[in-house]
Amino acid sequence: MIKVVLIGTGKVAKHLFKAFYISKQIELVQVIGRSKTSLLPFKELVDTSTNYENIKDADIYIIAISDTAINPVSEHLKTNKKFVVHTSGSTPMKSISSAHRKGVFYPLQTFSSGREIDLSEVPFCLETEYKEDYRLLQKLAHA
Ligand SMILES: NC(=O)c1ccc[n+]([C@@H]2O[C@H](COP(=O)([O-])OP(=O)(O)OC[C@H]3O[C@@H](n4cnc5c(N)ncnc54)[C@H](OP(=O)(O)O)[C@@H]3O)[C@@H](O)[C@H]2O)c1
Repeated sequence: MIKVVLIGTGKVAKHLFKAFYISKQIELVQVIGRSKTSLLPFKELVDTSTNYENIKDADIYIIAISDTAINPVSEHLKTNKKFVVHTSGSTPMKSISSAHRKGVFYPLQTFSSGREIDLSEVPFCLETEYKEDYRLLQKLAHA
């Protein structure tokens, strides 16, 4: 099982959540959001938190939030040398704090609220600092 913490509660986070939740190869351990209201759709199904310092242990931390917030939020994560990826196609991997092992998990798809997307049809663009992390991200995309 690949243990995942999802950071963000917007369009991309919601679509990833749905796919991760039904996958037998992924254990979604927590969703982190900045407000209790935006965490409501996830609350019944998984552990949630508004506190970046109260983050659970996972194999991959996915930051699916607005591009400009990726760097500050990655700086807040208390996960020394953990594998942290963002989902942006227009933000460099190096925008993630160097306290982490960095990566990109970018779904090549436009997401909008209320429109169903079959993620098994969506190509993912992957980038990592380390080969071992690339293999893990590939496994996640296939799962
Ligand atoms: N939408 C697409 O079609 C698409 C496709 C591929 C990749 N992406 C990428 O995926 C990422 C998320 O996009 P999205 O479409 O899901 O965005 P979105 O629906 O606009 O949601 C933005 C999320 O970021 C959070 N956020 C914004 N500013 C923040 C801050 N300062 N601190 C903490 N959280 C903050 C929001 O929290 P609140 O709910 O509390 O405001 C919300 O959870 C972006 O990097 C985007 O480039 C988007």
